[in-house]
Amino acid sequence: MDSFLLAMNRRAILLSVIFVVLSDHRPISTVHAASNVHIVYMGKRQHHDPTVVSNSHHDMLASVLGSKEAASDSLIYSYRHGFSGFAAKLTESQAQALAEFPGVVHVTPNRLHKPHTTRSWDYLGLDFHSQTNLLSESNMGDGVIIGVVDTGIWPESKSFNDKGLGPVPSRWKGVCKSGERFNSTNCNRKLIGARWYIKGLKAELGKKLNITGVDYFSPRDGFGHGTHTSATAAGSFVENVSYKGLGKGTARGGAPKARLAMYKVCWNIPYTYSYCTTSADVLKAFDDAIHDGVDVLSLSLGFMIPLYFDVDERNDIAFGAFHAVAKGITVVCSAGNDGSIAQSVSNTSPWIITVAASTIDRAFPTVVTLGNNRTIMGQSMFTGKKEIGFVGLISPVDVGEIDGPIASSCSFLSPDNVTMPGKVVLCFGGGHWSAEDAVKEAGGVGLIFARNPTSQVSPCIELPCVEVDYEIGMQLLNYIRSSRSPLVKLSPSKTLVGKPLSTKVASFSSRGPNSIAAAVLKPDIAAPGVNILAAFPDDPIDGGYALFPGTSDGGYAFLSGTSMSCPHVSGIVALLKSLYPQWSPAAIKSALVTTASTSDESGGPIFADGYPRKVADPFDYGGGIVNPNRAVDPGLIYDMGMEDYLHYLCSMGYTNSAISKLRQHSTVCPINPPSILNLNLPSITVPNLKTSVTILRTVTNVGPVNSVYTASIESPPTIHATVQPHILIFNSTAKKLSFTVTLSSTQKVIGGYYFGRLTWSDREHTVRSPISVRPEIIPSYVDNS
Ligand SMILES: *[C@@H]1O[C@H](CO)[C@@H](O)[C@H](O)[C@H]1NC(C)=O
Ligand SMILES: *[C@@H]1O[C@H](CO)[C@@H](O)[C@H](O)[C@H]1NC(C)=O
Ligand SMILES: *[C@@H]1O[C@H](CO)[C@@H](O)[C@H](O)[C@H]1NC(C)=O
Ligand SMILES: *[C@@H]1O[C@H](CO)[C@@H](O)[C@H](O)[C@H]1NC(C)=O
Ligand SMILES: *[C@@H]1O[C@H](CO)[C@@H](O)[C@H](O)[C@H]1NC(C)=O
Ligand SMILES: *[C@@H]1O[C@H](CO)[C@@H](O)[C@H](O)[C@H]1NC(C)=O
Repeated sequence: MDSFLLAMNRRAILLSVIFVVLSDHRPISTVHAASNVHIVYMGKRQHHDPTVVSNSHHDMLASVLGSKEAASDSLIYSYRHGFSGFAAKLTESQAQALAEFPGVVHVTPNRLHKPHTTRSWDYLGLDFHSQTNLLSESNMGDGVIIGVVDTGIWPESKSFNDKGLGPVPSRWKGVCKSGERFNSTNCNRKLIGARWYIKGLKAELGKKLNITGVDYFSPRDGFGHGTHTSATAAGSFVENVSYKGLGKGTARGGAPKARLAMYKVCWNIPYTYSYCTTSADVLKAFDDAIHDGVDVLSLSLGFMIPLYFDVDERNDIAFGAFHAVAKGITVVCSAGNDGSIAQSVSNTSPWIITVAASTIDRAFPTVVTLGNNRTIMGQSMFTGKKEIGFVGLISPVDVGEIDGPIASSCSFLSPDNVTMPGKVVLCFGGGHWSAEDAVKEAGGVGLIFARNPTSQVSPCIELPCVEVDYEIGMQLLNYIRSSRSPLVKLSPSKTLVGKPLSTKVASFSSRGPNSIAAAVLKPDIAAPGVNILAAFPDDPIDGGYALFPGTSDGGYAFLSGTSMSCPHVSGIVALLKSLYPQWSPAAIKSALVTTASTSDESGGPIFADGYPRKVADPFDYGGGIVNPNRAVDPGLIYDMGMEDYLHYLCSMGYTNSAISKLRQHSTVCPINPPSILNLNLPSITVPNLKTSVTILRTVTNVGPVNSVYTASIESPPTIHATVQPHILIFNSTAKKLSFTVTLSSTQKVIGGYYFGRLTWSDREHTVRSPISVRPEIIPSYVDNS
């Protein structure tokens, strides 16, 4: 089943639970299990008096937790105005018990909202004050139509205002379909179309489908995901947006003058995380979008774990995308949030642009000052106004360890023997939520959390919590151990942007190689997807509801995931489309891939977070980090059309009848279909190099008519690579030229992939293709030579 790729949030929760288990040697049953924030949702409010409603929440919670006091500690919010429900810290079993209560619609884990800003577009070089970038050259994507296939849209968001926009393009044939709390007056010159699809899901779930009180039977977004992705792709300018003061700035999408059309196919179904509906509905959405006249389709959804299902191009997204691409519509999809495991990338078809997630150059540093006046930098989302301290700093030790006391993860503190009221507590590893719980319970006023360095900031809910790496954690521990009365001061977080912060591929971003067609590089490209601020459903409108009320600040929220990186590329594609309406989807993909950045601004390498952390390779980020101002002038492109995709399908072993059905007219594959290695991709991937292989590519000159390009090749280690010819001379008659790349293995090895690259350059343009090769030589003990 499809599920959409905000999974980052859920995954982070999962990870923190796993960390708890790994970091504690004691059996989990003997200690209190980790409790996380859950939302207990109870549908429409049953009583007019908010106090009555809130008391009833309290009683329910007390009956599960055992006492009024425990209930007070656990309760975070009581929702009692627009609807009934509450947020509380609960263990899994407590959450289950509450879900059984009469009147409870569902209990869901809270989503982690990552504070972030509107920085990503400036970071990508699309500063709107500049007169000379892709944004201004393309007039901000004016007139281009982006279709978003997602959870719906919150039309009242300021990000969808249509100030300064011209009329709806006359070629537009879409509609604004009405439904629950949504009618044609909700569309405007920004949101020009909206449709919703639930018939297929109804057919599948029958009577079990009841979304009353959790989602709207209309294009209205009950979840927030689709509002966020739409605003990232094409939101209008909105000034003075921040999350509780962090990352303040002007919010806008990649193509602020492009128009949006929402195709709602994902629904909140009680007792499940989310459902993006059946093939029938998704295909209908594609069908309508093609008919309506969209130019770009943005899909932040995909199969959760590709290998668990019989997934190939016959899945609904790949199928729908095939039809869209056949009509010249570029289809952009998220890669998935199942990294950093290899072969986890989804949306693997060669006609799709598949987007990985990277960080941007922003952080939220927090100054930690010690009693000896030393200062240390940590990261946090400490949005309080006042600093904390100086107060005592302690590091509890876990007792009973075989090798004597060690520094504690704090997850399982016993308040009886730790004196921490009024102190800041230093904790190592473990889950930050369970540590936060324990420290709060023991009366601590702050938390310094030492852990593996990552780019994501943990949003502590009730205490300031500052993250540092293990090295700094050890320095702090030494200070505590060497000082008679260790003291510390925590300052509120600042927003830092700029060069000192290096770009990384996010650890959650799904990785190649492609598990369906190993010779097709996936993901194609990376774009910002960590801590992205964009529009979110505001608090419930008169009697309406939003699933996660109160989690956004003024209608803006911070989310992380490849769901967030995908619409960044969709926005950039819209800008390119407005400049080059005739470019094929393959040409646009080539322009993005061959111009992407493989080093950060200071020339350093781009790393990939994950296990282990390493320098990024094409399976992490495809061609690299998207670089829109270079993609606008790529020099050469590797183009493809339907013929190429048919060759691909033939060489993938699809039958004539399957392909004929897909194309809706009779097709016969050649007896010997061309090698899949010769698919004219802007990358070269050889999953099984025996001794030597020669690969064909054709480039089209889209730069100055008379151009001379020279090849340079960085051979992957142990591989000998040559290009023939190594000079390409373009003129008014020679616009398209072919060349071959021969790769030979120089060693008798079996093993992993090696990486290199091919670059064509005319001094003005550099056209880079990543090369990935896995040698597969029969070892000498087999062939005896
Ligand atoms: C559309 O909805 C708005 C607000 O709910 C309402 O005022 C308006 O009358 C509706 N328009 C139509 C055509 O139904
Ligand atoms: C659907 O859910 C709502 C809210 O929980 C409830 O009031 C209604 O009775 C349910 N409808 C059906 C048909 O089960
Ligand atoms: C920006 O928003 C903050 C609150 O978030 C408000 O205090 C401030 O006055 C606003 N500034 C402008 C220029 O609107
Ligand atoms: C720390 O700095 C303050 C003011 O700068 C000074 O008064 C104090 O003596 C210093 N403390 C130590 C331990 O150096
Ligand atoms: C800490 O408290 C636990 C019981 O709460 C007790 O078993 C243990 O001995 C105490 N440890 C110390 C060092 O006081
Ligand atoms: C273009 O280049 C080709 C091959 O190099 C050559 O045969 C042809 O004459 C050239 N055409 C022009 C107009 O210069």
